[in-house]
Amino acid sequence: MHPSVLILNGPNLNLLGMREPHVYGATTLADIEARCIVRGKALGLHVDFRQTNAESQLIDWLQEAGRGFAAVILNAAAYTHTSIALHDTVRALTVPVFEVHLSNVYAREPFRHHSFISPVARGVIAGFGALGYELALEAAASALAEAEAPPPSHPQ
Ligand code: DQA
Repeated sequence: MHPSVLILNGPNLNLLGMREPHVYGATTLADIEARCIVRGKALGLHVDFRQTNAESQLIDWLQEAGRGFAAVILNAAAYTHTSIALHDTVRALTVPVFEVHLSNVYAREPFRHHSFISPVARGVIAGFGALGYELALEAAASALAEAEAPPPSHPQ
């Protein structure tokens, strides 16, 4: 069976395609999901792709990730910059979490420069639009392969 990766999207990402297209592009969340499923298949990963506007739902899904998922890709959207609760949830997880943002948050308003997720994430990908999700899937596949690889044998 293929390992499963949970891809979680936070508030307002359901509006992609209509929302500030000069910032987020014309790609819809459904387009991104389709791209992730194709890329996941090529990498031998099953993709479960979800979106919610509710912080508590993100917390429940992150907790669920600890039961049966191999990795999480998280675009917590605005909660990235506000949520100690999400920080605590990610911190408690043993599966790796890859933080993604469509836009380059560091080239935007100062309030977007701080992330409560980054200190507890395996890594961060920002500014590459929908491609960022596929890059995160690559990173997840590589981390999983590394975790499964037998330890190097040392010559006597
Ligand atoms: C975002 C960046 C956040 O600052 C913003 O609140 C979002 C989307 C991104 O993908 O670029 O909603 O996470």
